[in-house]
Amino acid sequence: MRKEKIIVTSALPYANGPIHLGHLAGAYLPADIFVRYKRLRGADIIYICGTDEHGVPITIEAEKKGISPKDIVDKYYKIHKESFEKFGIKFDNFSRTTLKIHYETSQDFFLKLYEKGFLKKKRTKQLYCPKCKRFLADRFVEGICPYCKKKGARGDQCENCGKWLEQTKILEPKCKICLTTPIIKETYHWYIPLGNFQEKIKNWILSKKGWRENVINFCLGWFNEGLEDRAVTRDLEWGVPVPLEEAKGKVLYVWFDAPIGYISSTKEWAIKNGTPDRWKEYWKNPDAKLYHFIGKDNIVFHAIFFPIMLMGYGEFNLPDNVIANEFLNLEGQKISTSRNFAVWLDDYLSKFPPDPLRYALTTILPETRDTDFSWKYFQERNNSELADILGNFINRTLSFVKVNYDGVVPLPGEFNENDREILDRIYTFLDNSGRMIENFEFRKAILEVMNIARLANKYFNDEQPWKTIKGNPERCRTTIYLCLEITRVLALAIYSFMPFSSGKILKMLNLDKWKDKLNWTEFLNEKLRGGHKLGEPFILFKKIEDKDIIPEIKKLEGVLDMSEKKEEKPEPELIDINEFMKVDLRVARVLKAERVPKTDKLLKMEVDDGKGKRQVIAGISEQYSPEDMVGKNIVIVANLKPATIRGIQSNGMLLAAVSDDDLSLITVEKDIPAGSRVR
Ligand code: MF3
Ligand code: ZN
Repeated sequence: MRKEKIIVTSALPYANGPIHLGHLAGAYLPADIFVRYKRLRGADIIYICGTDEHGVPITIEAEKKGISPKDIVDKYYKIHKESFEKFGIKFDNFSRTTLKIHYETSQDFFLKLYEKGFLKKKRTKQLYCPKCKRFLADRFVEGICPYCKKKGARGDQCENCGKWLEQTKILEPKCKICLTTPIIKETYHWYIPLGNFQEKIKNWILSKKGWRENVINFCLGWFNEGLEDRAVTRDLEWGVPVPLEEAKGKVLYVWFDAPIGYISSTKEWAIKNGTPDRWKEYWKNPDAKLYHFIGKDNIVFHAIFFPIMLMGYGEFNLPDNVIANEFLNLEGQKISTSRNFAVWLDDYLSKFPPDPLRYALTTILPETRDTDFSWKYFQERNNSELADILGNFINRTLSFVKVNYDGVVPLPGEFNENDREILDRIYTFLDNSGRMIENFEFRKAILEVMNIARLANKYFNDEQPWKTIKGNPERCRTTIYLCLEITRVLALAIYSFMPFSSGKILKMLNLDKWKDKLNWTEFLNEKLRGGHKLGEPFILFKKIEDKDIIPEIKKLEGVLDMSEKKEEKPEPELIDINEFMKVDLRVARVLKAERVPKTDKLLKMEVDDGKGKRQVIAGISEQYSPEDMVGKNIVIVANLKPATIRGIQSNGMLLAAVSDDDLSLITVEKDIPAGSRVR
């Protein structure tokens, strides 16, 4: 049988900030699972990626820090490469868009489209910063979106509504570097008339089977609006120079060169392997399949823009599928790199092992809708599924063999009907999981894998080998042999999802020779032999304690508190004196005070309000101890409806002045009687 030939790409990450969980769930983890699986099944598959090292945000960051863009991309190339490796994302090549081979490949692309007459040169008006003395391409401008009217629209796209923008239409534009209002100046650029390709590209997409609905619908939305001319050059310094004499000082638009990075990375891979022409076997061979894994914000570029470039060039394969994921949220909020509200991969890896995160993320991949990651969820999945189900089964089986059979695979007797049924069901789960991976349904696939472990635990419990070892040793040997076989199958089943743990199981089974060489059919055919000596058993998944995740949760909460405080508060509206007089402010004397147990901030106080005693709760214990409070004359809102705070009733609210990081009580200067009105 001829081997299936496949090339898989994941969106090239920008080299100006580390990878976070959202990126992993969107473009990298699902692709890695897919590639590992197809390789197990014997496909000739390569997995290609690299860093996207152009684009205005990189230039802006460099200017802010007073270093060169090159310094920034060098730094992040290294960080990306290392953290992907540690996380088990196994690219066949991880390239960079600043390499010579990439410059040549992108320039060749531009020239080909130019020579075929697909590029139009047009005069155009653009925003120009008179102070910085430059055209404000893409993200160099910020202003208000002409469509949704929200702040934060950039020169190329609105952050909020996602529309591609004509930069001169942005309202109240400002230069991102110096905040000057730009002027409009004439320049010229080369455009690709996407509209000319619309019918062709639309028919192509509609002919595709097995594409996700989100991708198709998104594209249909674009076709409805009608594709327009798009500039593929920019007036910038940092980028791939446009290879035309008349285009001196201009570079290619980052979204023109970046996807070509997939091709140049494949070329680099082929050269490194000493077979410089082999890249063509994947890109120019009608029998090869091309799959792009991306986040939903990249759909237009991978399903419309890049395919049009490829069509225009000719000779190249078009993608067979564009697997786009929705977004992953974090603790119920949108991930935000600028606010540092994210879980960063390199930071995660400095504290936790890769597989529990690979597992937890796979169970919540945003395949059809946005999903939410929380540290609690992560801990739960690790402890109650990886440790208590999968790890537990393997551990009890291997410990049993060590204690009772001296670590040697026992010789099984005849399988009974139940044994055969169990095996049958295990293989069904295994096959199902494979089929689901082929359909890009990774969440479903991993459930099937866990079903193997669940069923295995049940089998162990039902068979009670700790009893049969005395009364029916042959039955016990058979049971344990079968449990070892299931352990072996589990090493294969979890490989694509949790490669490190799969390797550990192989080690414990003393089947190291398969490490990194697993092959589905061969491995399944080679059953365990009685008499085979196993390796030493060890714990596969450690429990994750509250103390491990609490600092992570606190850190994220800290970010949220900060940004809440920073949010602009609207100017208070004017009220009249009657409205003010409705608030019954009174002097009260603190009689008793104590901390509310298990809270950081709360004090419970008994105060004399002039008429009697009442209980008031306040969040002031970081600044005031109970002893500080007793005897103080404070001011309370006496006619506030009672509130319950942490299960304790509070009848009134005390007044305090609050700044970002401090709090000061409002007290009365003289010893005036409790109950006096404050106005
Ligand atoms: N750097 C882009 C992003 O992170 C993705 C580029 S994908 C490519 O959104 F196709 F252009 F390479
Ligand atoms: Zn400026």
